Amino acid sequence: MDFLCKTADFNQFKTECTVIFTAATNTLSAIAQNADTLCEGQISRLIKSGDFKNQVGNSAWFYPSTGKSARILVVATGLKTANASLDSETFISLAEATAQALCSKSLKQASIHLNDIAVEDQPVQWISQTLSSRITSAAYRYTQTKKVDELPLLAKVTLCTDKAQLTAAKKGATLGAAVGQGINTARTLGDLPGNICTPTYLANEAKLLAKKSTKFTTKIVEAAEMKKLGMGSLLSVSAGSDQPPKLIVMEYKGKASKAPNVIVGKGITFDTGGISLKAGAGMDEMKYDMCGAASVLGTMHTLVELGAPVHVVAVIAAAENMPSGRATKPGDVVTSMSGKTIEVLNTDAEGRLVLCDALTYVERFKPKSVVDIATLTGACVIALGHHATGLFSNEQALADKLLEAGKQTHDRAWQMPLWDEYKKSLKSNFADLANIGGREAGSVTAACFLSYFTESYPWAHLDVAGTAWNSGANKGATGRPVSLLVNYLLNNA
Ligand code: BES
Ligand code: MN
Ligand code: ZN
Repeated sequence: MDFLCKTADFNQFKTECTVIFTAATNTLSAIAQNADTLCEGQISRLIKSGDFKNQVGNSAWFYPSTGKSARILVVATGLKTANASLDSETFISLAEATAQALCSKSLKQASIHLNDIAVEDQPVQWISQTLSSRITSAAYRYTQTKKVDELPLLAKVTLCTDKAQLTAAKKGATLGAAVGQGINTARTLGDLPGNICTPTYLANEAKLLAKKSTKFTTKIVEAAEMKKLGMGSLLSVSAGSDQPPKLIVMEYKGKASKAPNVIVGKGITFDTGGISLKAGAGMDEMKYDMCGAASVLGTMHTLVELGAPVHVVAVIAAAENMPSGRATKPGDVVTSMSGKTIEVLNTDAEGRLVLCDALTYVERFKPKSVVDIATLTGACVIALGHHATGLFSNEQALADKLLEAGKQTHDRAWQMPLWDEYKKSLKSNFADLANIGGREAGSVTAACFLSYFTESYPWAHLDVAGTAWNSGANKGATGRPVSLLVNYLLNNA
């Protein structure tokens, strides 16, 4: 998707579509009034008829016989008056509805006027970034293993503003387009089936990213080297699979610095549960168990695309969790890279087993901070549903930064406790740690398990089990939390 920013007023240039944001009330915004004139009063008549409710995101199409716009798309703000400003949550709904509408018609280009809208506490750059990332992501279609009848044609969006705001609008559009691309990378990888998207496939994706920039390097730690490093926990997860595990290590050095911010993704390319086999219904969705890894690759894609002045190390612990004669069994004790022994009471609690070794591995980078992203627990979905990502941290300042990044991008997280009281449930009679706690507070005890391996640096854990993909008729990866991560990394370089 290309975004062009320019200074232009309504009806000053030829366009396939002009988007008008307005309160669908008797007092139309200035641009909506002009549009109404071009449409011979059809917009105001539609509103008067009561058929067009003033609810944020409601939209209607018009095809004026005069003027320079082939189409006019009116999107209701839901505001009571034309000149009030929107709160940021409402604007995000408005942007999302606009993006969906634009991708539903056979138009290649559209224009949006930014002058007519104001968002409380948000500069034009944020407005422009929000629109561009939502529009880029709305154009995503899965095409890898299925023919799609009609692809969205939209390829170019013109953002119109005044001279004073032009630079900010451009900056926002560049950022938003890159974030949208990163989101789409994460969605593509998430949606790919487990027989295509294997640990080796993820490793190859990381190698491709390194070709995009001289500041980017990718290194793959293979099983033999993992063995030498003592990664007995990670290796115990891939033991039952014919797919070799991969520890994928990427470094993007967009600025000179010693201490990078590190992100670590869970990359279970299929989670059968192993010997603690999962039930059959809905098991196909466990192809999404690498969405943490996908968000890491999506985030790196965005940073490279932007040439961002940040120093980030990204690690993916990739493996397939399968039952077999060589698979790890409940009760087996394995030794992690940290030296801690782990009793594997349930082979379906495998995410923490691959992550703990990756989290020990990243100590070598002397990180400024480490954030892991994982579809770690069904319990997190029970606790928070599908709106909020679960956030756990051993440092409140880091938690606050991530919460704020989530708010800014509407890719929100909600903090959960990491108290010592919860840690007791991980006691084992036969190892330093058990890999599961009891039935209660499952997302918290999973995070507690990880906390034993992250004591030497500021660390946060994002449980995206409820937010990384949608089930049902709209089954598909969401690309979360790429927006949150990019926002966090750019603001805390
Ligand atoms: N990948 C799953 C978590 C998951 C399940 C995410 C369903 C989204 C939807 C993870 O590996 C897992 O199986 N966790 C177990 C842990 C349990 C055995 C302690 C779970 O959540 O049931
Ligand atoms: Mn599992
Ligand atoms: Zn899993």
